[in-house]
Amino acid sequence: MNFLQINPYEINGFKRDPRTLATAQQIYKVFGHVHLDFLHWFEIDARGRPMDQQYGNISHYQPDKCPRENYLISSSNRLFNISIFYYIEFLKQLNPTQIVDIGCANNLLKKVCNNIYGISDNVNDTADEYESFGPIFVKKHANQFHCAMAICSLHFISLLGFKQRILDFSNTISAGGRGLVTFNVIRMVEKTLSNDLMQLFQTNKPTKQQLAGYIDQVVRNISLNFLVVDNVVAQVTDDNVNGNIRLVFEK
Ligand SMILES: C[S@@+](CC[C@H](N)C(=O)[O-])C[C@H]1O[C@@H](n2cnc3c(N)ncnc32)[C@H](O)[C@@H]1O
Repeated sequence: MNFLQINPYEINGFKRDPRTLATAQQIYKVFGHVHLDFLHWFEIDARGRPMDQQYGNISHYQPDKCPRENYLISSSNRLFNISIFYYIEFLKQLNPTQIVDIGCANNLLKKVCNNIYGISDNVNDTADEYESFGPIFVKKHANQFHCAMAICSLHFISLLGFKQRILDFSNTISAGGRGLVTFNVIRMVEKTLSNDLMQLFQTNKPTKQQLAGYIDQVVRNISLNFLVVDNVVAQVTDDNVNGNIRLVFEK
């Protein structure tokens, strides 16, 4: 089945882009020597070792050490996954004075892009502001953000709420602004009631293909101007770092 793909991540093009070099230099400046990791996605092999589907297996990840910032403390291999900047560049193209990062965890990306403003619902995170994304947040911040992103932070919902979640997030973006939102499909599967999975897929253990098809169908039915649709759910169901559904849109 061919799923909708718009401007998906393409490793060689991204590596050649001069903006990638600028981002890499900033990463080196802030974090010192790190191994730049350009993986598109991340999957665990049968022995629990992360592997890279496209570029050969790798064994230096610590699969239990997520999210992103823990990669930096992986003893001998200090890794920084840079591929998310492919998507962030679409926001940076608008030269925003601020990029709001909803669900910023420890605000790691702010160290690379200093105009990021991190929001988290968890007071133990290192955010600029503590607030929970939900109906109140969406109403309070309606049409407010010129550029915002939410990377693997809004996916703790049932698959049935996927479409509304994207629409809620898009409601916070002002006219002409851009949003980046990523999801890890397995987090949504975990939050979906067994009966609902049965209704959607005739099984409560849907295959990657079924999940990818569902995501594809929902995204196709959203009338947003998508600049990026990157759905790698058919290849991998669990990507803890950047998500396996990555969407950029312009309002
Ligand atoms: C997997 S981490 C995301 C990591 C970060 N975005 C990154 O890319 O490195 C999920 C983060 O989202 C936050 N979060 C989860 N649900 C949220 C909500 N409804 N509103 C705001 N933050 C939320 C969590 O507290 C956590 O910091």
